[in-house]
Amino acid sequence: MTASPTTRAGWLLRAEGLGKTFGATQALAAADLSIRPGEAVAIMGPSGSGKSTLPHAPAGIVPADSGAVILRRPDGDGVDDLAALSDDERSALRLRRFGFVFQQGMLPPELTAAENIALPLLLAGSSRADAAQRAEEELRALGLDGLGGRRIGALSGGQAQRVAIARALAPDPSIVFADEPTGALDSHTADEVLDALLAVGRGPDRAVLVVTHDEHVASRCDRVVRLRDGRIEEGS
Ligand SMILES: Nc1ncnc2c1ncn2[C@@H]1O[C@H](COP(=O)(O)OP(=O)(O)O)[C@@H](O)[C@H]1O
Ligand SMILES: [Mg+2]
Repeated sequence: MTASPTTRAGWLLRAEGLGKTFGATQALAAADLSIRPGEAVAIMGPSGSGKSTLPHAPAGIVPADSGAVILRRPDGDGVDDLAALSDDERSALRLRRFGFVFQQGMLPPELTAAENIALPLLLAGSSRADAAQRAEEELRALGLDGLGGRRIGALSGGQAQRVAIARALAPDPSIVFADEPTGALDSHTADEVLDALLAVGRGPDRAVLVVTHDEHVASRCDRVVRLRDGRIEEGS
């Protein structure tokens, strides 16, 4: 815990002593979490226990009140201490290094699959041509060839969720957060979507965190972190 950031080899992301309160509610209390490259981590716990806040705080979506978040750079090129970054730097880092998959229904339905996937890339400064090419590659990786021109509203739930995964993966992130990604799907489709998420979300320089209520989903991950009242009870 006291090692300097550069000696934390083996960790892709470390959060130490993360705390977050909303008014009188302690959403996270001194949470420590280490994520290794290549792993899928399930985050479980009762409603309101901090499951969504835990992934949002490291990425700076919901800035933590206290604690440190350290993210290793690709190619072993040192680390980024998120607290030391300006808001603009943290936003830029979030767009490049973190991918988010939410429960079904969070993609703009009037945009096509390819437009949805390209959007975060354009926000991160990619050219239209590069973004379109990455979108095509990710569609293929998720088994969605030929569906790039289809509006989200005209896809099945499982297809739409695979577009959401493609969208999260397009910037080649280090950390993929999926918050109840299969919660709105029937069990067969949920399995297919989870297969896809685990296939692309685990890589030599990438890990995936899956917030879930479902023990079956958790059992398919490499380990489980359990939260209660903002505290990590198990598995950090
Ligand atoms: N933006 C917010 N404003 C106020 N309270 C919030 C906010 N986000 C989360 N909370 C509260 O923080 C606690 C943890 O929330 P969350 O991480 O969303 O829990 P979970 O995902 O486990 O259901 C809950 O009590 C929730 O009501
Ligand atoms: Mg939640």
